[in-house]
Amino acid sequence: MIRVLSSDLAVIGQSLIKSLDQKVSAPCRGNLAALTDSGLGNLLALQVIMSRRLHARRVEGVDKNIWVEFTQLAADYKVVNLGQGFPDFSPPKYIQDAFCKAVSSGCPMYQYTRGFGHPPLVKILAKFFSRIVGREIDPFDDILVTVGAYQALYCTFQALVDEGDEVIIVEPFFDCYQPMVKMAGGKAVYVPLRPRAEGGKTVSSGDWTLSAEELSSKITPHTKAVVINTPNNPLGKVYKTEELQMIADLCIKHDMVCITDEVYEWLTYDGAKHVKIASLPGMWERTITIGSAGKTFSATGLKVGWAIGSGRVMKHLKIIHQNSVYHTATAAQEAVAHGFQKEYEHFGTPESYFQQLPEQLHHKRNKLASCLESVGLQPIMPEGGYFMIADTSSVKVDFNDPSTKDEPHDFRFVKWLIKEKGLATIPVSAFYSPEHRKDFENYIRFCFVKEDSTLSAAEDILRTWSKSK
Ligand SMILES: Cc1ncc(COP(=O)(O)O)c(C=O)c1O
Repeated sequence: MIRVLSSDLAVIGQSLIKSLDQKVSAPCRGNLAALTDSGLGNLLALQVIMSRRLHARRVEGVDKNIWVEFTQLAADYKVVNLGQGFPDFSPPKYIQDAFCKAVSSGCPMYQYTRGFGHPPLVKILAKFFSRIVGREIDPFDDILVTVGAYQALYCTFQALVDEGDEVIIVEPFFDCYQPMVKMAGGKAVYVPLRPRAEGGKTVSSGDWTLSAEELSSKITPHTKAVVINTPNNPLGKVYKTEELQMIADLCIKHDMVCITDEVYEWLTYDGAKHVKIASLPGMWERTITIGSAGKTFSATGLKVGWAIGSGRVMKHLKIIHQNSVYHTATAAQEAVAHGFQKEYEHFGTPESYFQQLPEQLHHKRNKLASCLESVGLQPIMPEGGYFMIADTSSVKVDFNDPSTKDEPHDFRFVKWLIKEKGLATIPVSAFYSPEHRKDFENYIRFCFVKEDSTLSAAEDILRTWSKSK
């Protein structure tokens, strides 16, 4: 950083005048001299103050954000949007009713509630998830309610990752994990799920596997945590018990924490079963499980999420929460509490939204997959979640946009699809580290948690394009 004393400013001004002396007229020279004594001095002083590094180093290199860029692009071109992951239909009626009731029931719903989670919500979350994890979860010690899963992730990384810690992230990964690790002072280390080719092509997200050898090879004495996401965004992989057991064994052997993002936990298809790694022997004490009411109840705007884990771990996350956001909207938490109460009563029955939603999505998934296949975009059938990735390599497109010429293939493809065809998707290499990005830049991601009419509009675009090829 250059430090300039104010007394130096006059000298700088004078030398500026000298250097301009031969080039400017006399009246102008007079003006310059006056400026040096007053205005120019101030101007230089201002520039000197503003030229000190304003930003903290933690924000360097994390400025690019796929959602900011592609959401804007989709809005600019008024497209059919299969990009960002949110439903374009309403949440179940009981959530809407509960939210309406909350906002019309007077003062308490408009005021702060308990900072670590509204009591009715943490109580029902504890009751609900105790049954699933197979142990007694304490509503007040073991749960932190946050502003969406995003903030639960943020609290987790801030609370557990120190300068110099390494965090292993399994790829493809929800893009915010990397900047969050970096902002906490840690170093992200990557291990990709690799497609196991059968007869030349992979057909299902289940064909993408994590190598135990490759994962082990990335563990060092600095490794603090492993991050997984099941069902995975963007791939749709649902980790099998034996895969989770392999990760659990390594976490226990090397004394690592497991951060597991399970925001799509209710969305599985074709008999795939979501298993919580926290329920495996020895894992409760070292696992933080992240969830989202936005994904659970098709209400992403409510922004209610949570982290669940042993009170021993959660107390550190609570410190970050109480010193940053402190509190999540009361009425939104109240509505989510009602939602979970209802689901608790109907769990495992056809009245449960956790059964109804995957049934609806199963049909949408199949509709999208057959359309993609028919236009030559090879889909990888997701076992869970609400995204599908498709291989674009057999489709030849003449990109005519010079502004994208230095970008990866999938970025160019997605931008072309938005600008030329009016359909928004997301490039999959954005879910990879720079070192592995190149291997996966032929894939693009489609979101299918959309009205049938939206999916049909997308199909029309793809089929019309296919016919014109
Ligand atoms: C894997 C994953 N984790 C976390 C989030 C964030 O969830 P929320 O909207 O509850 O903050 C998302 C949102 O798309 C996601 O896909």
